[in-house]
Amino acid sequence: MTAYKIIDHTYDVVVVGAGGSGLRATLEAARHGLKVANITKVFPTRSHTVAAQGGISAALGNMEPDDWRWHMYDTVKGSDWLGDQDAIEYLCRNAAEAVYELEHFGVPFSRTEDGRIYQRAFGGMTKEFGKAAIQRTAAAADRTGHAILHSLYGQSLRHDAEFYIEYFALDLIMEDGQCRGVMAWCLDDGSIHRFRAQRVILATGGYGRTYFTCTSAHTCTGDGNGMVLRAGLPLQDMEFIQFHPTGVYGAGVLITEGVRGEGGYVTNANGERFMERYAPHAKDLASRDVVSRAMTIEIREGRGCGPLKDHVHLHLSHLDPKIIHERLPGIAESARIFAGVDVTKQPIPVLPTVHYNMGGIPTNYHGEVVTLKDGNPDAIVPGLMAIGEAACVSVHGANRLGSNSLTDLVVFGRAAGMKCVADIKSGARQADLAKGAGDGALARLDRFRHAKGTVSTAQLRLSMQRTMQSHCPVFRTGSVLREGCDLIAQVYRQMPDIDVKDRSMIWNSDLVETLELDNLIAQAAVTVESAAAREESRGAHAREDFAPRNDEKWMKHTLSWFDTKSGKVKLDYRPVHTYTLSKDVDYVEPKARTY
Ligand code: SIN
Repeated sequence: MTAYKIIDHTYDVVVVGAGGSGLRATLEAARHGLKVANITKVFPTRSHTVAAQGGISAALGNMEPDDWRWHMYDTVKGSDWLGDQDAIEYLCRNAAEAVYELEHFGVPFSRTEDGRIYQRAFGGMTKEFGKAAIQRTAAAADRTGHAILHSLYGQSLRHDAEFYIEYFALDLIMEDGQCRGVMAWCLDDGSIHRFRAQRVILATGGYGRTYFTCTSAHTCTGDGNGMVLRAGLPLQDMEFIQFHPTGVYGAGVLITEGVRGEGGYVTNANGERFMERYAPHAKDLASRDVVSRAMTIEIREGRGCGPLKDHVHLHLSHLDPKIIHERLPGIAESARIFAGVDVTKQPIPVLPTVHYNMGGIPTNYHGEVVTLKDGNPDAIVPGLMAIGEAACVSVHGANRLGSNSLTDLVVFGRAAGMKCVADIKSGARQADLAKGAGDGALARLDRFRHAKGTVSTAQLRLSMQRTMQSHCPVFRTGSVLREGCDLIAQVYRQMPDIDVKDRSMIWNSDLVETLELDNLIAQAAVTVESAAAREESRGAHAREDFAPRNDEKWMKHTLSWFDTKSGKVKLDYRPVHTYTLSKDVDYVEPKARTY
């Protein structure tokens, strides 16, 4: 029995998170008559999708002929053969329609002279199965994610989706292995809410904030992933952390790959365009793992720029200022504010910066959460779905291609909404929740709220972030990773000694950050343990002690469980789907849709 007064709600679908995928799922379910609640800790248009600059990939063929099969080939290759090929096929086949839908929803895409959606080049995107680079990334200048969020939020309101804004989701309500709902805390008035639903969709984003320097917002704490681990379910492929080659040196702020797509390039201290040595064909538009490693090697071998020789230069001053003004206005502003440079005259100092989590909650391409159960690697967890960066579908495998993230958000956001529409009946009677449902979540809240230890949340968070930065970086070795496992375990052991000063329930940011840290530290532990175990190099996971990719032994997804009591991580593996949708009897080509 809890001392907190609980306000109960019942919906057909509850979506947690209002970034690109959460809004797209919300809209899809709501516009087909389901009663949908969206719970979000930040105002929808401030979700981290706002920071996705360069664009959304789809074989529209607006600049030159294109084919979804070429896009699929690039994505399978880019994933370093760890992506599930049925899901990748679904992504690439549905991408064009998903982009046209966005256009009809009101996204103000940049245009070609003849009025089509403008597309730019991005790393790893090629034509004719790798022959040459192609312009496949549809863009709204360098504010594509921002534009998508505004359109999807407006459309969701139009279809009567209900938003619970600045509500912090605490934990899932699980009964006999089925997800029945979610507990949430209203930050504004301190009230506690219990949501019962036929489906809960986690769209809570990535966990970039396990690291010290990242392009992710402070809110990117992987709260859904934390809830999944506490529910005794696994996360998948957590060792694959993407470093974006061009974060502003010292600040971490993203400078879009679209800069290189428009003709920008990187140089070392000698002014050399070193990517010509590492990737003679793709050069600056090689995939992100390749460019990040090349930059790291240049710096390590003493050819870095600046007095400390610890970064490289990104040039775009040779571009026509009109192009910068029209297509890259946001990064010109970021470079001025965060690096003090005028991009029409000076290069931007940049450094590989943690940007994206390929791993997350394992799902199939409908967005249903799966787990390994009784020998079945694709066992569905009833009632629970996940999409977006929180999920691991897995379309990105070991490395995501730039601009495939926004595509993932809207294609699988829509797929999850469609699956809800297909499987559940609006207003269907839901069984009563078990007595005391959600009490565990409130006990956890209460424990941290009244914590009187000796170490602050900020101190522990910093120890975790510095450990991840130094012990789970671009290049990894077994001994450093093992040391990282021990250091993260030490941080976890200090959690019971945490000190929270603010005991109130109204906008208690001290408590929110503590709950977020509790989510982050579990994810840090499974990340570094999964990385230490994987003795090969693949995509973003570059082991100096195991340099080649080892398909025979390691072409498999890592599953990781976290025991909250002991802090111990358990690992197991599930096979990669190397088959396409034609083998899948479930797959039905999406029908033409009305917008
Ligand atoms: C970028 O514009 O470089 C970031 C977008 C992405 O990660 O796909």
